[in-house]
Amino acid sequence: MTIAIRRASTHDAQAIARVRIDCWRTTYRGMIPDAYLDAMDVDASTALWNRVLSASPNTTSVFVADDDGVVVGFGAGNMLEEPRYALDAELSAVYVRRDRQRIGIGRRLVDAVASAQRDHGAHGLIVWVIAANKGARAFYEELRGALLVEQPFEWDGMPLVEAGYGFPDIDALIRACETCASGDGPPRPASSTPKGSGEAAMPRAWGGSNNPDGEMVH
Ligand SMILES: CC(C)(COP(=O)(O)OP(=O)(O)OC[C@H]1O[C@@H](n2cnc3c(N)ncnc32)[C@H](O)[C@@H]1OP(=O)(O)O)[C@@H](O)C(=O)NCCC(=O)NCCS
Repeated sequence: MTIAIRRASTHDAQAIARVRIDCWRTTYRGMIPDAYLDAMDVDASTALWNRVLSASPNTTSVFVADDDGVVVGFGAGNMLEEPRYALDAELSAVYVRRDRQRIGIGRRLVDAVASAQRDHGAHGLIVWVIAANKGARAFYEELRGALLVEQPFEWDGMPLVEAGYGFPDIDALIRACETCASGDGPPRPASSTPKGSGEAAMPRAWGGSNNPDGEMVH
């Protein structure tokens, strides 16, 4: 099996949309309203990703994990207009199809996105997750992300909690991506997840404040 991480093109828009919808349905069931998950539409999402991927050169980066011609994951990042928590870039999406999780694709995607954002001048990254998304939280904590905040927000009438993780040193994040699977990285903080909040974390990036349509492209 050869899985390549490569930059996405407009030809990948539909595959990205499919992976995203698939991941939302397998990850967020029970966290966000079923009605929303069931109504997610590949064509609409494809159109959005087409727009993202055909935009003029900008400081957004999108990478896909290509498994012998099949897109099984993707990651995206962008520079922030205003730094948040002193972080100047955002990891806006990282999704790996369930049947390809836990084989290192996620960290390779984050590595690619972080490196691309560093090339755009980024010093640090922020990522938002639904607090109940334990798997993603463990992933970011494995990469030595620091929990910045947990806060409630409401979406589609459903009260949720989001958690923000920060990677203030983008070089350290890139190193962590390259070493975490081998277990030879520096020691991690004891625990960055406060007791009692170990449940929910969901991506705030998914809330899509940078998307004028209000549709979540992440
Ligand atoms: C979170 C996600 C992107 C991680 O990608 P991945 O390819 O599965 O992760 P990797 O194989 O690179 O994992 C690297 C390390 O992170 C940690 N990790 C990753 N997923 C984990 C999980 N579900 N539970 C605990 N630890 C996890 C592990 O330490 C793992 O190393 P190991 O497998 O050798 O133990 C992927 O599982 C995914 O797409 N999940 C569903 C969508 C989602 O939640 N996206 C994030 C939105 S904010």
